[in-house]
Amino acid sequence: MVSRRDFLNFSAATIALTALPSQIQSKQLIRNYRLTAGITPHQFDAKGISDNLWLYNKQTPGPLIEAKENDVIRVKFVNNLHEATTIHWHGIKNINKMDGVPYLTQDPVQPGESFLYEFPVNHAGTFWYHAHVQTWKQISKGLYGPLVVKNHLDEQFDNDLIILADDWRLNKNYQIDKKSFGSLHDWSHAGRIGNWLTINGKKIPKYSINKNGHTRLRFINASNARILSFGSSLDGMKIISIDGMSVEPFIEDKFNLGPGQRIDLLIKTDDISTIDFFEVSGKKPISAFKLNINQNGKKNIRKKDINLQSFKKIPHYKNPRILKIHMQGGAMGNLAKAYFEGVEKNFRSLAIEDKKFWAFNKEVGKYEKSLASVKKGQTIILEVWNDSRWPHSMHLHGNHFYVESKEFSDTDKLVLRDTYLMQPGEKSKFTYIADNPGKWLFHCHMLEHAASGMIGYIEVL
Ligand code: C2O
Ligand code: CU
Repeated sequence: MVSRRDFLNFSAATIALTALPSQIQSKQLIRNYRLTAGITPHQFDAKGISDNLWLYNKQTPGPLIEAKENDVIRVKFVNNLHEATTIHWHGIKNINKMDGVPYLTQDPVQPGESFLYEFPVNHAGTFWYHAHVQTWKQISKGLYGPLVVKNHLDEQFDNDLIILADDWRLNKNYQIDKKSFGSLHDWSHAGRIGNWLTINGKKIPKYSINKNGHTRLRFINASNARILSFGSSLDGMKIISIDGMSVEPFIEDKFNLGPGQRIDLLIKTDDISTIDFFEVSGKKPISAFKLNINQNGKKNIRKKDINLQSFKKIPHYKNPRILKIHMQGGAMGNLAKAYFEGVEKNFRSLAIEDKKFWAFNKEVGKYEKSLASVKKGQTIILEVWNDSRWPHSMHLHGNHFYVESKEFSDTDKLVLRDTYLMQPGEKSKFTYIADNPGKWLFHCHMLEHAASGMIGYIEVL
């Protein structure tokens, strides 16, 4: 257990955060995949008209990319769209040039072109991949999929299910509402909030698991902007992993999942026949998915408790470098003026001329906007202040950071995350060791906020 005290005392215990992506070794197992982005017809509802989604391998969500700890993932990517794109491997402590950020780590992959992504995965957990060009459009049209890295501890589970959730905005014909792409209202308020929840591409899917088995559920929020909140018919839900990092298990009645975030649950089934899961962020709970308990499943089920290695203590460090990030902007905010591409403008001109609404430290960001440059090996404390009237789901590429999370009922919980959901007015500290060289994006995962200024990078030299 990591207590608040351990965190504040910077306990002398040292552990590796996650191993560095090394050069690929000849004995590493290579997992080969092929992903093709293209346009695929899809019907959301029997009452509706068929729509064209942008998908990987014609699937929604894209195919599962799976590997074992210390394997190498190799993806031959082909772009059959009519616009440029890239793929980002969200949560993976990657080699910088494989991180998939356009202009910053690679040139966008043009229509008809291909790109070879190849990187080692040195830590088990629940991750996902998604397009990283005009994310507010490309992700909302379906360009994402799950990525799971396992290790020997995963063998203890009888069932392992991905619960990848998306919040689509459909029009009255049950097609993606394209008229509202780029809506100034969405960009300056909460982002593109949808009206059609899917789990693994479906409405209220049913899965079957074995009686008395141990089931791992891997929740992923692929929504543009909606903070999903999950509840269930269980007395409580046991959280065992957060953003791909195992934690000392704890129970919550419901949990929030900001865009980009992941949470894994352990479900131990007994005499009930069905478990219902709900999405409870709106006025009324809506049905999300169901687990049917197979009463006649195999009887070999283990009695033992599951053993999971949670992350330990924050590594010992000296002389942290403090980087302050003051987030401002949006509707009803206090951003009077900000710099964009070197020119200071008032909020109204930024909105009208540049469609920008958000800033870090009074500067409107973009992919190529440097926030700081730090020395390799240095401990960084990002002091982030959400000085706006909106929540933001803040994501750092290529690193997990320690943060005293206010997201759970224990409001001092120390967690290791790559995406942290900040409430309006919240101040928090993200602590990490900058041991991975390269240019690492830091942005809001509410995709409309990132597109309108809440983005930049930290370079590790
Ligand atoms: Cu899923 Cu730049 O992020
Ligand atoms: Cu945001």
